[in-house]
Amino acid sequence: MPPAEEVRKRSTSDYIFGKVLGEGSFSTVYLAKDIHTNKEHAIKVVEKAHVIREKKTEAIMREKEVLRILGNACPYFVRLYWTFQDSDRLYFVLSYAKNGDVLSQIDKHTHLSIECTRYYLAELILGLEYLHSKNIIHRDLKPENLLFDENWHILITDFGSAKIVSSENGHEERNNIRSENKYPYRRRNSFVGTAQFVSPEMLAETASSFASDLWALGCIAYQMAYGQMPFTGGSEYIIFQKILKLDYTFSEDFPRGVKDLVEQLLVLEPNNRLGARDERCYSSLRQHSFFSVLNWDDLGPPPKISEDTVEDMVHEIPDDLEPGLDPEQVSRLHLSLLTPNPVVNRKKSPPNRKITDLTDTEIQQRLEAQKTNIYHSFVEDNLILKQGFIDKKKGLFSRKRMFLLTLGPHLYYVDPVTMTLKGEIPWSSDIKAEAKNFKTFFIYTPNRKYYLEDPEGYALEWCKAIEDLKNYYFSDET
Ligand code: ADE
Repeated sequence: MPPAEEVRKRSTSDYIFGKVLGEGSFSTVYLAKDIHTNKEHAIKVVEKAHVIREKKTEAIMREKEVLRILGNACPYFVRLYWTFQDSDRLYFVLSYAKNGDVLSQIDKHTHLSIECTRYYLAELILGLEYLHSKNIIHRDLKPENLLFDENWHILITDFGSAKIVSSENGHEERNNIRSENKYPYRRRNSFVGTAQFVSPEMLAETASSFASDLWALGCIAYQMAYGQMPFTGGSEYIIFQKILKLDYTFSEDFPRGVKDLVEQLLVLEPNNRLGARDERCYSSLRQHSFFSVLNWDDLGPPPKISEDTVEDMVHEIPDDLEPGLDPEQVSRLHLSLLTPNPVVNRKKSPPNRKITDLTDTEIQQRLEAQKTNIYHSFVEDNLILKQGFIDKKKGLFSRKRMFLLTLGPHLYYVDPVTMTLKGEIPWSSDIKAEAKNFKTFFIYTPNRKYYLEDPEGYALEWCKAIEDLKNYYFSDET
């Protein structure tokens, strides 16, 4: 029998809410501390009205049911500790993944080392063995949905697109016999939202099966090892066409061991993907030569993901806050008034050199090198002087964008998930950048004030780069 405290229903007043960890179309995830145990959690807050308006009740209920089924028997999943609700919102109290997600690590290091690629694919495969044994298909696996816990083990998250296969159909789904029209891709399109990892059978609207997750595994293996997604394009339509035609390539320097694995997973016919015909565990994946050095019964400790000795960022909840999540607290957290964050350990600033101090030769050399940058296609052949992920805030919402400051001058921003250009902050001699602290900064244009947050804590560097570029182009004007 659990202690009385554990059986009592929870509410927001049991938690002190800290910073926003992430935002989806229907939810916001906050860091929060349980006032009874002092344990940190990620609390996913879902607006009921929004869910009802968008007819997503079923998806939210399914997510809760999946998390309930998964329980805590397998270490590779985010765990659901509690759920509760008030008149406006649903709350999911989840494990807090302290070390962010796999996508951020790929972006930070351009790709993962072979050792990390092998290790984290192995953890993902073990997770998929468990998930599929419970008759659940994730259907939205991608590096963003693979989080790292405090010990750098993977936690698979976001089951909003998952499908629970009834046990009678489990065998058929495993072998992809049954045609599935119940959740055709297009109906779920707006909720799934990740074109690059969708399997061809989900696009063709005929079937989704456990092998759809194996397709995503192939895409993830490609991206971990090489830093880029196998299927990219300027629009979702182009990406879908490429997926359906299996139109992707490997560059010369793509790691060989991973290449064979990817080729055996990115197979149009779901039944022919490596592992798709396995019975209990994914023995054919386990036996692939890429994993031959692993002991599948004990993967051992994770390899170091980076040489950095200090963590870039630690989020902490200040002690002086009250429990609860009233509207005032919501807006305070969204506007990052908790900053300056005392626990952001900033990396050393780059040398005090102007970003525009470049010779013509340097510009040409850098432009040539830039052609391999996946964001090159968005900048109209202008030289990228600075780039980085910035949370662009609008009202209570915030969107992660890749900001690209270029000669021209231009300041483009791209949605890194759909890989589409979202816009540009217009340049003029009146542009002004102002840092509020290490993370938050504002850009003023004659018509608008932009609220921006650099989660890595380089707000001052962004402001300096913008001012340098302004002086470079407009310093003669008064
Ligand atoms: N962002 C979304 N979910 C999260 C979690 N469980 N932990 C940390 N960050 C998250």
